[in-house]
Amino acid sequence: MKHLSSYFTFTTAIALLFSFEPPSLHTPENFVQCLYNYPHITDSISNVVFTQTNSSYSSVLDTPIQNYRFFNLSGKPQVIVTPLDVSHIQATIICSQRHGLQIRTRSGGHDYEGLSYVAEVPFVVLDLINLRQITVDVENRTAWVQAGATLGELYYAISQKSKTLGFPAGVCATVGTGGHFSGGGYGSLMRKYGLAADNIIDAHIIDVNGNLLDRKAMGEDLFWAIRGGGGASFGVIVAWKIKLVPVPSTVTVFNVARTLEENATEIIQKWQLVANKMDERIFIRVDVKKVNSSEHGKQTIQANFVSMFQGGVEELIPLMQKSLPELGLDRKDCTETSWIGSVVFANVVLGGSSVNEAHEVLLNRTRFRERIIAKAKSDYVMKPIPVEGLQGLWRLLYEVPDGELEFAPYGGRMYDISESELPFPHRSGYIFHIHYAVVWREEGDEAAQRHMNWIRRVYKYMEPYVSNSPRAAYVNYRDLDIGVNNNGYTSYHQASIWGVKYFGNNFRRLAIVKTKVDPHNFFRDEQSIPTLSDEEN
Ligand SMILES: Cc1cc2nc3c(=O)[nH]c(=O)nc-3n(C[C@H](O)[C@H](O)[C@H](O)COP(=O)(O)OP(=O)(O)OC[C@H]3O[C@@H](n4cnc5c(N)ncnc54)[C@H](O)[C@@H]3O)c2cc1C
Ligand SMILES: *[C@@H]1O[C@H](CO)[C@@H](O)[C@H](O)[C@H]1NC(C)=O
Ligand SMILES: *[C@@H]1O[C@H](CO)[C@@H](O)[C@H](O)[C@H]1NC(C)=O
Ligand SMILES: *[C@@H]1O[C@H](CO)[C@@H](O)[C@H](O)[C@H]1NC(C)=O
Ligand SMILES: *[C@@H]1O[C@H](CO)[C@@H](O)[C@H](O)[C@H]1NC(C)=O
Ligand SMILES: *[C@@H]1O[C@H](CO)[C@@H](O)[C@H](O)[C@H]1NC(C)=O
Ligand SMILES: *[C@@H]1O[C@H](CO)[C@@H](O)[C@H](O)[C@H]1NC(C)=O
Repeated sequence: MKHLSSYFTFTTAIALLFSFEPPSLHTPENFVQCLYNYPHITDSISNVVFTQTNSSYSSVLDTPIQNYRFFNLSGKPQVIVTPLDVSHIQATIICSQRHGLQIRTRSGGHDYEGLSYVAEVPFVVLDLINLRQITVDVENRTAWVQAGATLGELYYAISQKSKTLGFPAGVCATVGTGGHFSGGGYGSLMRKYGLAADNIIDAHIIDVNGNLLDRKAMGEDLFWAIRGGGGASFGVIVAWKIKLVPVPSTVTVFNVARTLEENATEIIQKWQLVANKMDERIFIRVDVKKVNSSEHGKQTIQANFVSMFQGGVEELIPLMQKSLPELGLDRKDCTETSWIGSVVFANVVLGGSSVNEAHEVLLNRTRFRERIIAKAKSDYVMKPIPVEGLQGLWRLLYEVPDGELEFAPYGGRMYDISESELPFPHRSGYIFHIHYAVVWREEGDEAAQRHMNWIRRVYKYMEPYVSNSPRAAYVNYRDLDIGVNNNGYTSYHQASIWGVKYFGNNFRRLAIVKTKVDPHNFFRDEQSIPTLSDEEN
C-alpha cells in the first residue's frame, strides 16, 4: 500500500506541475518539440538532439561505451542530448518530466553496470561529451573542471600549467570526472591526499526543477551528498571546483612482477602488513593474474607490484628495504619521471602501448577500444588474508583465462578522515580494497554466464576473509549483484541492503538529502538513493 500511495503522490505532483497530459503525448517527438520550444535556450539546441532515426544516433550512443556487455542491449534511449550549455540541460530535465521520460546522465561512460546509458524504461541520455572545459588557477591552486572532462584531460591541463601541482584521482585516463568524483575516486595520491571527493571545494549542479546551484545555493547537505554518494540520484553535475595538491617535480614509478615461483604469495603476505602503514608518499598496488611462465613453460600466478612514490629513487630504495625487502626492489626497476609522466606510466600498465608516449595520449578518449566484455566486484579487507586464503584465490584464478585481482592499500590521509565526513565511509580500519574483474571476448549468453558465475564464486569464496555486516563495497565499482531497486519505488529499508555496503551509516543521511532535493524521485536508476516515506522519515 505504501508504494501505491507514493506512486499516486508522484503522478499527482507531475500533473499539477505540467497540467495533465495523456500518455499519447509521451512520444520522443513531443519531447523534442518541448526542447525546441523551451523558452530560455541560449544557444541552438537543434544540433545536439539525436533521435533513434538520426544517422548519427548509434555512434553518439556507442562510442563512449567502455564495456561491451552493454553494447547490444535492448534498453536504448529514445533520445540522446549532448548539451553545449546549462540551458540545454535545464530544458532536458524539464521536458523529460513533462513527457514521461527518465534521464540517465553520462560523463565518461565507464559505469560498471552501464547505468549511464542503459535502462528498461523510456529514457533520455544526457551525454556531457561537449562539457569539458578546464580552467586551472595556479596562483590559488584550484581548478574548475566540467563534468564531461576525463581524468586524462584534467591531468594534462594541470601539467600544462604547472609541473608541481597534481590532483588525487583515478588512474584510467578515459574515466569521466562526472561519475568518478561523485563516487569518491581514488588513485596513487590517495594515501597522501585522500580521494578526489575529499578535494572538491565547490560544484555546479542542476536540480530537478532546473535550477543551477553552486555550493552556497545548494547548501552543505547536498554538497556533502554529491561528494561520494554518486551524482545520479541528485541532479546533473555540470562542473567541479577542485583543490590542486603539491607534487614533487620528480616522482618514481615501478612495476615489478613476481610469480608464485618467485615468492609472490610471501611478498603479498608481507605487503598486507605494511602497505597501509608505509610513508604516505608511497602507493603500491598489487595486480594478480594468471600468466604463462616463460621459464617453466606452464601456467602460474603473477603479482605485479605497481607503484608511484612522490620522491626520487635515492629515497625510495632504503624505504623499500626497510618495509618490504622481500620484493627485492632494484634501482633498475625504477623510473624517475614527472607526475604527469607517472600518469602516462600508469595508463601503460593498464594496457597502453609505451612509456615513451607523448603526454597527449592522455587526451585520447577512445584509447582502450579493444572490444572487451567485463564484470567486476569489490571488497574491503580489515585483517590480513591468511596464506591458505590466498592460495584458494590462486586456484580460482587458474580456472578462467582472464581473471584479475587488484589490491589497493589505504592508510595515511584516508585514516585521518572520519567515516561520516563524506558519504564514502571506508576509512580507518580498512587495510586495502580488492577489485575483482573478469574480462572476456567471446560473445553470447553462454560465455557471459560462465564468466559471471566465476566471479560470483570468487566473491562467495572470499566472504570469510573480508569485511562483514556490512560487507563493504565501492560505489564506483558498481555491482548490481548486491541489490537493485524496483523500477519506480523501493523502500528505504529494501534499498539499505545494497546502500549500507556502499555508504555504511551515511546511507540514511543520503536518503534524507534525496527526499529533500528530489522528493518525487525523478532522478532514479537501479541503484539510486531512495526517498524516505513519511513513516520512515
Ligand atoms: C578502466 C577503468 C579504470 C578505473 N580506475 C579507477 C580508479 O583508478 N579509481 C577509481 O576510483 N575508480 C576507477 N574506475 C571506476 C570509475 O571511477 C567509475 O566507473 C566512475 O563511476 C566512472 O565515471 P564516468 O563518468 O566515466 O562514468 P559514467 O558511466 O558516465 O557515470 C557513472 C555514474 O555516475 C553518474 N553520472 C555521471 N556523470 C554525472 C553527472 N555529471 N551528474 C550526475 N551524475 C553523473 C551516471 O549517471 C552513472 O550513474 C575505473 C573504471 C574503469 C573502467
Ligand atoms: C541528426 O542530429 C543532428 C544533431 O541534432 C542534426 O544536426 C542532424 O541534422 C540530424 N540528422 C538527420 C539525418 O536527421
Ligand atoms: C552485437 O550485435 C552485432 C550484430 O548482431 C554482432 O555482430 C555482435 O557480435 C554483437 N556484439 C556483442 C558484444 O554481443
Ligand atoms: C585567486 O583568488 C583570488 C581571490 O578569490 C582572486 O581575486 C584572484 O583573481 C585569483 N587568481 C587568479 C589567477 O585567478
Ligand atoms: C624466495 O624466498 C626464499 C626464502 O626466503 C629465498 O631463498 C629465495 O631467494 C626467494 N626467491 C626469489 C626469487 O626471490
Ligand atoms: C598461454 O598459453 C596458452 C596455451 O599454450 C595459450 O593458448 C595462451 O594464448 C597463452 N596466453 C598468453 C597470455 O600468452
Ligand atoms: C586513440 O587511440 C586509439 C587506440 O590506440 C587509436 O586508434 C587512435 O588513433 C587514437 N586517437 C588519436 C586522436 O590519437
